[in-house]
Amino acid sequence: MRILAIETSCDETAISILETKNNQYKILADLVSSQMKIHAPFGGVVPSLARREHQKNLTPLLIEAMEKANLLKKNQELKIKNYDSKFKILNSILEREPNLLKDLTKFLKSCEAPDIDYIAVTVGPGLEPALWTGVNFAKAIGYVWKKPIVPINHIEAHIAANWLKNNILRQTQDIKMPAICLVVSGGHTQLILMNDFGPPTGGYKILGETRDDAAGEAFDKVAKLLNLGYPGGPIIAVRAARITNHESQIMNFELPRPMINQKNYDFSFSGLKTAVLYLVKEKYLQPNKKGRPKLKITKNELNALCAEFQQAVIDVLISKTLHAAKTFNARSVIVSGGVAANDELREQFVAATRKAKINLFLPEKKYCTDNAVMIALAAYYALNLSKNKKSKLKSWKQIKAEANLRIR
Ligand code: KG4
Ligand code: ZN
Repeated sequence: MRILAIETSCDETAISILETKNNQYKILADLVSSQMKIHAPFGGVVPSLARREHQKNLTPLLIEAMEKANLLKKNQELKIKNYDSKFKILNSILEREPNLLKDLTKFLKSCEAPDIDYIAVTVGPGLEPALWTGVNFAKAIGYVWKKPIVPINHIEAHIAANWLKNNILRQTQDIKMPAICLVVSGGHTQLILMNDFGPPTGGYKILGETRDDAAGEAFDKVAKLLNLGYPGGPIIAVRAARITNHESQIMNFELPRPMINQKNYDFSFSGLKTAVLYLVKEKYLQPNKKGRPKLKITKNELNALCAEFQQAVIDVLISKTLHAAKTFNARSVIVSGGVAANDELREQFVAATRKAKINLFLPEKKYCTDNAVMIALAAYYALNLSKNKKSKLKSWKQIKAEANLRIR
């Protein structure tokens, strides 16, 4: 089975091609075009800019992915049946993506349909304009190449990244159910009880989620207020790693662990960010010559503050996840999403789950942040597990972006 997968829910344009045979797999292409530099000056993702960049990136990425996978067959004299009516429909599919329309039409007119079986695309949750660009792109190529489309939930795909294992795709039962899944990214922080991959076989139940900022978002906002750059997660992690425990103790920053003692599965990170803001305002903002407030903080203090912030997030995430695992007699804990790339969080999750005698699963670091391999994986499991495979396949006419899609 060959799946071409597309991901544009946030600020990464990603395309992958996954080939599977029995439970062996080959990643024929795995491309991510990051927009980090474009969003960096704003300290967060700007949806309209994300959409513009997806429109620009998608066709070149598709060509590169097909080249890498050896599936690119250029043909300048390509005979396309019902040429005019076909491209009229293509125009209407990409009516709202003018830049994409130009590039893609040119490409489709000169290239044969590749030897793939399915197109998988993220339909939600995510930033609406960004999602639509990927969805319209999938519709367009699905229509011209006559390939069925598998709509994918981005959160389920983050979870599915855990089933990838050195050349072999895990059998679903390799990760014992029920599992508690913690999905921590820039857009989401959710604790999910998983009984199986999605419907109709049992699916997921959201136990709790953040009431305000996502964990990754908190990293990004704190980095912004400390003038550290974007995305904040990796930058704060590097700073935090530079400080020794001893130095940290001397500086003695104490930030809150929001909601840690509440017996629910919800989170709140905006208060933690505000606590950092107050601390900075109180101790480290001083007027410059022009009277404007300027951050005056030593490197060590900054590193210690990053370490304390990171630890506060980790403490809450581990405590809530283990509480859920205990309550629901989970046989596995699965952690995924961009924040799961954090080394300190990974180490501390390993130690805590070992102590609690529960199996822990973490994706490879490069498959924690947004990518299209996880989208292809989610499609693979959806197609393989579903008794009614046809119900998972949609025609280009049937799919739409759903910014607030919930996992179930
Ligand atoms: O999953 P992802 O790529 O996109 C969303 O679906 O949101 O997650 C991106 C988020 C960003 O907020 C980023 O700061 C955070 O993941 N992140 C990290 C690390 N790497 C990425 N947070 C903490 N530590 C990291 N090493
Ligand atoms: Zn994500």
